[in-house]
Amino acid sequence: MPIAEQTSSSSSSTAFDLAWVRSQFPALAQTVNLHPAVFLDGPGGTQVPQQVIDAIADYLARNNANTGGAYHTSRNTDRMVAEARAAMGDFLNCDADEIVFGANMTSLTFAMSRAIGRELGPGDEIVLTLLDHDANFSPWKALEEKGAVIRAVKFNQSDCTLDMRDLAAKIGKRTRLVAVGYASNAVGTINDVAEVVRLARPAGALSYIDAVHYAPHGPIDVRALDCDFLVCSTYKFFGPHLGVLYGKREHLKRLHPYKVRPNTNDIPNCWEWGTLNHEGIAGIKPCVDYWEALGRRANPAVTTRRAAILAAYEAIHGHERKMMEKMIAGLLAIPGLKLYGITDPRRFENRGATFAARMEGHTPLELATKLGERGFFTWDGNYYALNLTEQLDVERLGGFLRIGLVHYNTMEEVERLLGALREIVA
Ligand SMILES: Cc1ncc(COP(=O)(O)O)c(C=O)c1O
Repeated sequence: MPIAEQTSSSSSSTAFDLAWVRSQFPALAQTVNLHPAVFLDGPGGTQVPQQVIDAIADYLARNNANTGGAYHTSRNTDRMVAEARAAMGDFLNCDADEIVFGANMTSLTFAMSRAIGRELGPGDEIVLTLLDHDANFSPWKALEEKGAVIRAVKFNQSDCTLDMRDLAAKIGKRTRLVAVGYASNAVGTINDVAEVVRLARPAGALSYIDAVHYAPHGPIDVRALDCDFLVCSTYKFFGPHLGVLYGKREHLKRLHPYKVRPNTNDIPNCWEWGTLNHEGIAGIKPCVDYWEALGRRANPAVTTRRAAILAAYEAIHGHERKMMEKMIAGLLAIPGLKLYGITDPRRFENRGATFAARMEGHTPLELATKLGERGFFTWDGNYYALNLTEQLDVERLGGFLRIGLVHYNTMEEVERLLGALREIVA
């Protein structure tokens, strides 16, 4: 189906202009072996709009400096970082001083686990899940060195949803922290993180939400969730390779980061060590600007940046949903293919457009390689959702083939991918 035919989504109350979206991302115009490149690797990292590329290049060309200096380019850098923080504050619905920048989600989480670990003693419990990316598992498991006890929540093997009863049962008087993913980067399950926060609070446990995989697909509101921490990575939602941590102000102030002495004690900078990746941070506000522009096109009546961001999510939802429905129906119709995660259309609201599949007689690496030759960028392996692949006993078999859609993908790409898969296995 040509892109023009799908530009207004009937199932969404706000208009979605796919042709405009695709025109923003120069990478999407590439070809591989004369095939158009089809980016189905969003869960590993998304492409960036031109304005992000321009802002990064412009920063390096004109304002490349360290922060805190008494001169022009340094002051411009300070201003740019402050604008990026404010933009992320609107993106997550918190204040700018509750936003911490870091190299990526994994290093931010290790830093936070070290700081929280200072408050833990032998027998204190941490609740984790077997559905999560290892970046929300190993940093907490490392606290076993301090005598912390890890309690790992099971998932339902039939549909890869979190076993919420097990989660509730594992939270108890000794629980100090509950760390849960918002959405699975392997099978696409969306977890009820609001309920997780609600269960953690009466136990006096902190909640730590990994929203890395959810952020490109659904709106995040840390105030409404009332979580204590939430982490995401801008490179998964059309920005630069960086991590972002939201921490409730009271926790960022109370906890003690490991840091060098000359560094400030003020939040949020006391949680940012050494020199940050300024050129990357220069791409953050333009990334949020992209979301805002998408939302304003979808709903010109919105007045604030936050409202525009929410309108953008509303607009992409219908498009991602339609692609998901087509992809799942198509994958299930391929003989010998096993699709993991939720496949029941009545429960599609509990999953996103990320698909993990295995095919009889073909390893995931073989499939990804053959697809790659035809211009389809998919992934194979465990994508660090190691507990999941081990529990499902596919780790020793090469994991899954992962196909990940984001809003710049098209129905036509879904059809072509399905056709290519059918050909490969025929
Ligand atoms: C769900 C999830 N959590 C955490 C991470 C780790 O993020 P980062 O690469 O920013 O450390 C990833 C990366 O793929 C992820 O998908």
